[in-house]
Amino acid sequence: MEPPRTPPFAIRARLLTPLDAGGTRHEPDGLLIVDASGGITFAGPAADRPENAAAATDLRPWVLLPGMVDLHAHLPQLPNAGLGAGLDLLTWLDRYIFPLERAFDRSAAERLAPSAWRAFAGAGTTTAMVYGAVYEASLDAAFEAAEAHGIRAIIGKVMMDRGTYDLDIAPADILDQTLAESARLIERWHGAADGRLRYAVTPRFAISCTADLLRESASLARSTGAYWQTHVSEDRGEIAEVGRLFPDAIDYVDVYDRAGGLGEWTVLAHGVHLSDRELARLVETGSHVAHCPVSNLFLASGMMPLGRYLDAGLSVGLGSDVAGGPELSIFSAMRVGFYVQHARRVAGFDGADDGRLLEPLDWLRLGSLGGAQALGLGATIGSLEVGKEADVILVDPSFVAPSEGQPADEDPADLASRLMFRSHPDMVRAAWVRGRRLEGPGARPV
Ligand code: GUN
Ligand code: ZN
Repeated sequence: MEPPRTPPFAIRARLLTPLDAGGTRHEPDGLLIVDASGGITFAGPAADRPENAAAATDLRPWVLLPGMVDLHAHLPQLPNAGLGAGLDLLTWLDRYIFPLERAFDRSAAERLAPSAWRAFAGAGTTTAMVYGAVYEASLDAAFEAAEAHGIRAIIGKVMMDRGTYDLDIAPADILDQTLAESARLIERWHGAADGRLRYAVTPRFAISCTADLLRESASLARSTGAYWQTHVSEDRGEIAEVGRLFPDAIDYVDVYDRAGGLGEWTVLAHGVHLSDRELARLVETGSHVAHCPVSNLFLASGMMPLGRYLDAGLSVGLGSDVAGGPELSIFSAMRVGFYVQHARRVAGFDGADDGRLLEPLDWLRLGSLGGAQALGLGATIGSLEVGKEADVILVDPSFVAPSEGQPADEDPADLASRLMFRSHPDMVRAAWVRGRRLEGPGARPV
């Protein structure tokens, strides 16, 4: 049966979702009802179907899950995904990334963005927080493509006022220009498509930003209600360079703290090597971290102590960090994140203080509701619950079965385990944002 394209609709399927209140809802024979405006009006057992409900499309034994939230990725870098493994961050940026981003003008963005959004959706991601390149017009193209595609996207123009690849601007003018361009983009796009599109003010990282740019960008974000995103404490060489460039700062997090950059609308990518002081400061300010474990191994950056951060009360979601990470899939981020936690244990890192170990249903929560909460969207998306918007994916579990014809896993934790440890590029068969189906999943016939 063909999954519905537009709301209103009702789908009968297996249903697996984290819940706002904690725990998981699993309905082996479930029903999801979405109203004309794309809101969820029922998520429960098919046997409890409301009397006046329209007929449901029966998609059993496929599984409905909340759409995944990718809290950190780089749109212009997608063409180089999978290249440059094992280089240290700064060398990789120079060799593989800056040349690509330098060429990411409006026409390059027009060519890439529509297929990039389809690829995100095909991987099961319905919300993506991404960096563009430095050019204003290429950001317009990225937003226009997201508007047409239907994905929920938070996008920002990369800001750099030193070591930038944009050689056409006189260094003295860069700060004013990049602020003015970001302000215009906020005006045009923050809250567009009825709030489905949002803007993140995006200074790249402390190495490519002066203290002035960090401070002015944070103030722009605060005065407009936009997000503020950057990278922090990803790689040892990077951390040493930040120490050299900002000798007065206590540590890397303090560089952003002094700029006024910390707070609940801030998403910092990585945070692999945070000190206890830095961790405490992020928790205190309500800042969020995008954990990108695939990238952290691909670029040999390190193994983030996720359990310790969560135990300290840090808000964490998952990111692909494409192209630092070679894959868009948040299910892959769950898998590698699990391996990182266990590799730390095996290697005896931090002794007994490494914090809690996540289980498959915890990882599913982190990849959906955890990301939504980090974006301040926990009441709107991230789980299949009445009153939320219908950002949903449909997965065919036969793709993750070890052999053909093997009966489906009845236990929800087993199902979550198969999805993360045996995720398959074609397993997502449909995805919706606000009940509107996205192009991307199922693009390859199977
Ligand atoms: N730090 C600064 N820029 C980047 C980037 O593009 N990717 C990653 N992984 N880290 C960065
Ligand atoms: Zn990144």
